[in-house]
Amino acid sequence: MKEIFENVFGQDGRVLTLNLVPGSKVYGENLLKINGKEYRAWNPKRSKLCAAIKKGLKNNPIKHNSTILYLGASTGTTPSHLSDILTGGGLYAVEISAHSMKTLLRLCEKRENIIPILADARQPQTYREVGEVDIVYEDVASPEQADILLKNCRMFLKKGGYAMIAIKSQSIDVTQSPEETYKQVKEELSKELEIVEEISLEPFEKGHLFLVLQKK
Ligand SMILES: C[S@@+](CC[C@H](N)C(=O)[O-])C[C@H]1O[C@@H](n2cnc3c(N)ncnc32)[C@H](O)[C@@H]1O
Repeated sequence: MKEIFENVFGQDGRVLTLNLVPGSKVYGENLLKINGKEYRAWNPKRSKLCAAIKKGLKNNPIKHNSTILYLGASTGTTPSHLSDILTGGGLYAVEISAHSMKTLLRLCEKRENIIPILADARQPQTYREVGEVDIVYEDVASPEQADILLKNCRMFLKKGGYAMIAIKSQSIDVTQSPEETYKQVKEELSKELEIVEEISLEPFEKGHLFLVLQKK
């Protein structure tokens, strides 16, 4: 087994994280016993961050002790793997849907390094108590994706900190090509953040571009 990034492992083409809550699955993923430890198979079709890793992501700023503000946590599929990785850190999980939040809350009962926040990511002032973070991660399917990331980075991201975003072209403008949409979003983000890496998530996610950016 190889450690691809801090607390992210690779074996036989699979991406794995060490299960923080042994015996417990989050979204039906496979559990694997390797050298006496239990790992969770990270599914690239269910998680855009895993898809980016499978596609050869080179710059992953997430360390075991990072503090992450995660926008669009849903029921916690990707947040649960981040929770495995963040053995000395934690994540604030912002989600607008009360329905998804119910499932997320059950996950947070088992995983104390995830702090759930029921809020609209377009209004970061409503969760200002989060304070400074190392990374802002956004996976919100919204026409305002770029604006949401910039607002949250202005308010919470430390200087030199990183942002990660999965841009969904279909949510932003269905009338133009994904390439045109990516170009516009990148132009907007580049005013305040430096683009470190970009990866198309095809074939795992159609019409998605994953960006890693750094606060200037
Ligand atoms: C694609 S899903 C996220 C999946 C999740 N990131 C994962 O990988 O496990 C997008 C989520 O964003 C949430 N969302 C949409 N608009 C939002 C907003 N303005 N603020 C917070 N969450 C929002 C949706 O309710 C949905 O749960």
